[in-house]
Amino acid sequence: MILAIETSCDDTCAAVVDNGRIASNVISSQAAVHAAFGGVVPEVAARHHLELVNPIVDAALDQAGVTLGDVSAVAVTRGPGLIGALLVGVSTAKALAAARELPMVEVDHLHGHVAANFLEPDPLEPPFLCLIASGGHTLLAGVTDRRGFETLGQTLDDAAGEALDKAARVLGLGYPGGPEIERVAADGDPGAFAFPVAMARDPGLDFSFSGLKTALVYAARDLGSGGIAERRADLAASFQAAVVEQLTAKLERALDRGDWPAVALGGGVAANGLLRERVGEICGERGLRLKLVARELCTDNAAMIGAAAEGLDPAPHPAYLAWDAKV
Ligand code: KG4
Ligand code: ZN
Repeated sequence: MILAIETSCDDTCAAVVDNGRIASNVISSQAAVHAAFGGVVPEVAARHHLELVNPIVDAALDQAGVTLGDVSAVAVTRGPGLIGALLVGVSTAKALAAARELPMVEVDHLHGHVAANFLEPDPLEPPFLCLIASGGHTLLAGVTDRRGFETLGQTLDDAAGEALDKAARVLGLGYPGGPEIERVAADGDPGAFAFPVAMARDPGLDFSFSGLKTALVYAARDLGSGGIAERRADLAASFQAAVVEQLTAKLERALDRGDWPAVALGGGVAANGLLRERVGEICGERGLRLKLVARELCTDNAAMIGAAAEGLDPAPHPAYLAWDAKV
């Protein structure tokens, strides 16, 4: 039975995972705190983690109906993420493990997103191709076993979610921007603006979203504030279509090159209806299995960290006492 802690960005998370089964999965989102700033403020996130982490760990143990005495290992996200935020989780996990002389497992945050697919019900066994698109990361992960993944391609600049968040700001919408863009895009024409699909002809599997963001900024500048208000739905729909087009084009290219029997999605952008629909069509055409984990397992959570830890070797007590967060 693993107690897992995740504090890499703006969600304070703790979970108890037992052989792929989620005994508890507690998430305290700081989104409302950061909304006022239009994005995550790292220092503010770290301070909130500090206040929240102990009660969240207690809640995870309570909801699982267990105590620290029942736990056999502590798992924690060691990186990548915001350094101040990570330090809170790593220090907490070290303290708990050291006090109980428990082994400890360090987990890579992105491996966690992949490992969300290993959880009950209906765990997905490797091999599979996993597209992870969140506020901090965009990558294609080739998963051949439970211990890790191979990065087949990744963004060279902004993450997909980051681009959506910035686009929402340009369009005068709220934070987080992805759901706002999706909501407004529902009434818009995705073909109204010809936004660039970056690296469409580039043979690689990497992504780029900064040019798309700049194209929106220019379109908005040309329209002026009155024009933006008038064309907001078309701008949002066209922008969303360009993001999804790039994500699915690279996914298809990776499928062409490998022999992947299944596809999985992860990260907050995986909640996007258009992306889910398009990936569903692609898998249907190719006869591939598509695994879509529940929305609360797509976004940051600690159950996925526990799931990743189950496939890894723990460090014995007290070998981990010298650990630090890895940015
Ligand atoms: O995985 P996540 O919760 O946190 C990070 O690790 O970053 O992802 C958050 C990102 C934000 O950029 C947010 O705008 C985006 O996921 N997002 C969406 C949707 N819901 C959240 N993007 C598009 N459509 C959505 N429905
Ligand atoms: Zn994440």
